[in-house]
Amino acid sequence: MQLTGVTHRYGPDVSLSYPDLRLAGGEELVISGPSGVGKTTLLHFMAGLLLPSGGEVRYGDTLISGLSEAGRDRYRASTVGYVFQDFHLMPGYTALENVLLGLGLAGVRGPAALARARETLTGLGLGGRLHHSPRQLSTGERQRVALARAVAHRPKLLLADEPTAHLDPSRGLDALALLRGTAAELGATLVVVSHDPQLVGAFERRLELGRSVAVSAAAAGSQPVPA
Ligand SMILES: Nc1ncnc2c1ncn2[C@@H]1O[C@H](COP(=O)(O)OP(=O)(O)OP(=O)(O)O)[C@@H](O)[C@H]1O
Ligand SMILES: [Mg+2]
Repeated sequence: MQLTGVTHRYGPDVSLSYPDLRLAGGEELVISGPSGVGKTTLLHFMAGLLLPSGGEVRYGDTLISGLSEAGRDRYRASTVGYVFQDFHLMPGYTALENVLLGLGLAGVRGPAALARARETLTGLGLGGRLHHSPRQLSTGERQRVALARAVAHRPKLLLADEPTAHLDPSRGLDALALLRGTAAELGATLVVVSHDPQLVGAFERRLELGRSVAVSAAAAGSQPVPA
């Protein structure tokens, strides 16, 4: 994943400009900074959910910021797992159906999808909650369903926006362990946005937006092959 000269304008009043960034496959990064600084916007660029006004976003050889909307949909379906800040689970669907919906978007359907959805939820400790709807689940369980939906299609880029915002501190570390464990299993690059000092402190490579760019020495020093 590589960002070069990325800028964005939301109307005449909001103008964002980002430091260049290069992430190798399997690497992990936490993005922090004050509210409104543009953290979620940056994740949206990485996911191909939003096109920057200027600059380039690349994943491997693909110029994500040059793709059509359909191309970006395909990129997301094949490559990206996104854990939304407020989970974005479908309230009228069970845990299993939520994960199946995500797999359907990635083109995995039928018995293979059902097996994958069950296996992913069970692997995240939700084997006994397959047929519960989100409102019948605890916040931590909802978060794991959101994670299951994000990873069931086995993405190589896992993006999580404030994954501990709704959890108490001990659960926060569980959530991080789940994200890391899943990313490691998939060999995926992991990018997490967080305000939570405990979570931020658990990452070696950090990007703090809104002040002078603070990328760790390890990050600045090495030039690994971009993913
Ligand atoms: N659709 C939009 N239209 C106009 N302005 C927007 C839009 N989305 C975001 N913004 C503005 O862009 C800036 C960055 O927003 P963004 O959501 O990326 O911030 P953030 O760092 O994720 O904040 P938070 O920590 O509160 O989630 C904010 O000032 C926000 O008001
Ligand atoms: Mg945000």
